[in-house]
Amino acid sequence: MAVDLLLGLQWGDEGKGKIVDVLTQNYDIIARFQGGPNAGHTLEFDGIKHVLHTIPSGIFHENAVNLVGNGVVIDPVIFKKELDNLKKFDLDIKSKLLISRKAHLILPTHRLLDAASEASKGKAKIGSTLKGIGPTYMDKTGRNGIRVGDTELSNWKEKYRALANKHEAMIDFYAAKIEYDLKELETEFFAAVEVLKELTFIDSEEYLHQAQKSGKSILAEGAQGSLLDIDFGTYPYVTSSNTTAAGACTGLGVAPGKIKEVFGIFKAYATRVGSGPFPTELFDNYGETMGRVGNEFGATTGRPRRCGWLDLVALRYAVQVNGVTQLMMMKGDVLSGFDKLKICTAYEYKGKKISHLPYNIEAENVKPIYSEMKGWREDLTKMNSVEQFPTELNDYIEFLEKELEVPIKIVSVGPDRTQTIHR
Ligand code: IMP
Repeated sequence: MAVDLLLGLQWGDEGKGKIVDVLTQNYDIIARFQGGPNAGHTLEFDGIKHVLHTIPSGIFHENAVNLVGNGVVIDPVIFKKELDNLKKFDLDIKSKLLISRKAHLILPTHRLLDAASEASKGKAKIGSTLKGIGPTYMDKTGRNGIRVGDTELSNWKEKYRALANKHEAMIDFYAAKIEYDLKELETEFFAAVEVLKELTFIDSEEYLHQAQKSGKSILAEGAQGSLLDIDFGTYPYVTSSNTTAAGACTGLGVAPGKIKEVFGIFKAYATRVGSGPFPTELFDNYGETMGRVGNEFGATTGRPRRCGWLDLVALRYAVQVNGVTQLMMMKGDVLSGFDKLKICTAYEYKGKKISHLPYNIEAENVKPIYSEMKGWREDLTKMNSVEQFPTELNDYIEFLEKELEVPIKIVSVGPDRTQTIHR
């Protein structure tokens, strides 16, 4: 049985949580493969709005098993809060939520290191969510990390102490000084690890292998977006994991040949939180309207998101790197009422027109070249079929399909599960 992937194609916040929730009924297993609680996946159904950070977005469906894969980094403290927030839903967490033993733990000192590193960077700061993501992946690749499976060993606290001591020395090294009470943080951390240990830890690559052999369907759920990928994103203003398709292979132990559909999710416009280049960013009323109508505030940090026109140069790049087979356009409803819509189809770069993403997309290097289309006035949020779409919206969608050479199969017209139109 094949594995399907679901990925964000921009700078994150495309609405992956909603689509996983919509698609879950087609899958036996939903598996997160990278990132950590820097993500905020928002789901809305039956009048309830729920934000998940580490737990996969299939958790609310009765039959799906949810797996936190080896490529994910877990903060036990945040994980415990997520579990506490789920208590009111009366879910069978023990059998519905499985954790890979190979996933790395975010320690309190990883969060402190993130804060010290960012504060020391001054103007060059990444705009990190400060959840300890970068330092935890540094310890993973530096071969110093502590994994979920370690907590089952009797000597893991000694390993923890040695690493935390090293981190404290590193925190002192940074120019920016931060205040902290490690004892208090550790009390909270160790209590949360005990809660984590009540869950089911598994050798997830073996589990997924057997699941595939027995015909189970698997959806791999990405976090963040392709332009935040550690290799292919707008480095160094990126996150510390591979958010692109290949990350699902390393983050779950799934063989490349087993991957079938690659669902690519994008917003009908573009947003970005944190620092870094954003060629189509708007500083006018259009951008302000996108932010206000689209409620563009970070689900994890509450920070306002920067908004801009859709950038097809960047989107084409993401479609290529990921091998996207089906596209899903989110937040089409937010653009209702715009008199015109601009779509960036190429950049002016060193005096030439280019249509690929160059090494450096800082504002001084690239100038977007736009196509302009007529907007639509109609409210899309109550529509439930493509037949009801205004002509201008159909024109917009068809223009994108032609440029990207991939069909747009879903158009989302609101945050609720039901506001999802299949084409
Ligand atoms: P970090 O991964 O928290 O260190 O953040 C690195 C960069 O990625 C910052 O610009 C963050 O704003 C951005 N980022 C991290 N996670 C998300 C996400 O889930 N959505 C959008 N941006 C994110």
